[in-house]
Amino acid sequence: MKIVILDGYTLNPGDLSWAGLEALGDVKVYDRLHPEDIVHAIGDADAVLTNKTPISESTLIACPGVKYIGVLATGYNVVDVNAAKARNIPVCNIPTYGTMAVAQFTFALLLELCHHVGAHSDSVYAGEWSSNIDWCYWKHPLMELAGKTIGIIGFGRIGQAVASIAKALGMKVLAFDAYENDAGKALATYTGLDELLHTSDVITLHCPLFPETQGIICNENIQKMKQSVFIINASRGPLVVEQDLCDALNSGRVAGAAMDVVSTEPIKTDNPLLRAKNCLITPHIAWAPIESRQRLMDIAVDNLRAFSRGEMLNNVWGKEQND
Ligand SMILES: NC(=O)c1ccc[n+]([C@@H]2O[C@H](COP(=O)([O-])OP(=O)(O)OC[C@H]3O[C@@H](n4cnc5c(N)ncnc54)[C@H](O)[C@@H]3O)[C@@H](O)[C@H]2O)c1
Repeated sequence: MKIVILDGYTLNPGDLSWAGLEALGDVKVYDRLHPEDIVHAIGDADAVLTNKTPISESTLIACPGVKYIGVLATGYNVVDVNAAKARNIPVCNIPTYGTMAVAQFTFALLLELCHHVGAHSDSVYAGEWSSNIDWCYWKHPLMELAGKTIGIIGFGRIGQAVASIAKALGMKVLAFDAYENDAGKALATYTGLDELLHTSDVITLHCPLFPETQGIICNENIQKMKQSVFIINASRGPLVVEQDLCDALNSGRVAGAAMDVVSTEPIKTDNPLLRAKNCLITPHIAWAPIESRQRLMDIAVDNLRAFSRGEMLNNVWGKEQND
């Protein structure tokens, strides 16, 4: 079997092994590709694996040898699934691999908003402690989380993992979700969206990007929040109306924010959040600890191995697209 990986670098920049896939056939790995090079790169391959490189109907017409498409991610909107299905080509994704990594990173962001560890360390290295007249100093307000309320929007796998960590820190947990379940009820108090917005000290987004969740952090909803609120987004960028959040941060209407995702990635230089006060931005790394990338790699191998045996694992045909 000829296997082509169209954009392997973000999954495996060199610290993982492709051996699991190499055991299944001849593997060619491209770190990344320009759109005009996709057809040539696929050539007569049997199996194509992609993370964010699009596979359109015209690509499938140009590459009639393709028998299998593997997506190295949960979201599979980069593949024209209908065109693949019409040619009997399964499209197999990785339904879940990084729940704890994203939950942990959510707290990396929140704890940074509470303590500004990076900024304080930078200030020490800049000589500010050596020249300080007192034995300690802090440059930003510091905040304890015990007793504070965290409001979690989207209470699925990651949202519930975030709740467990929040409870360990002594936080009260509110959750808003389109569906309630018993596991969620054991971890949090479900509320309506407005109550969550009114009462939370920290609001964190863990819902998928759907038409009804797009722009859920907008001026109208920000006006319902406490002025001291911290807002965290480690889900999908378009959940936030970035200009509205920027205005609220710069006017002091919102105390702080932390975004692991933005509307367009990589971030554009004119993204308003780059000019907002007290806004942390990280380059979509919540998913990326080596343990969760290894899990992703293992599932990608399992999917292709199953296909090579005539079985089907994680084929998304007919499934509702998440994000
Ligand atoms: N930053 C990263 O690296 C990274 C990595 C993985 C996932 N994510 C994001 O995290 C999100 C959550 O992942 P998960 O594994 O917990 O998914 P999940 O499917 O387990 O949970 C999503 C929850 O959102 C709820 N939901 C759906 N529509 C809603 C609505 N209109 N309002 C409120 N809640 C709604 C669902 O009922 C579900 O409980 C993903 O959709 C993805 O966008 C980000």
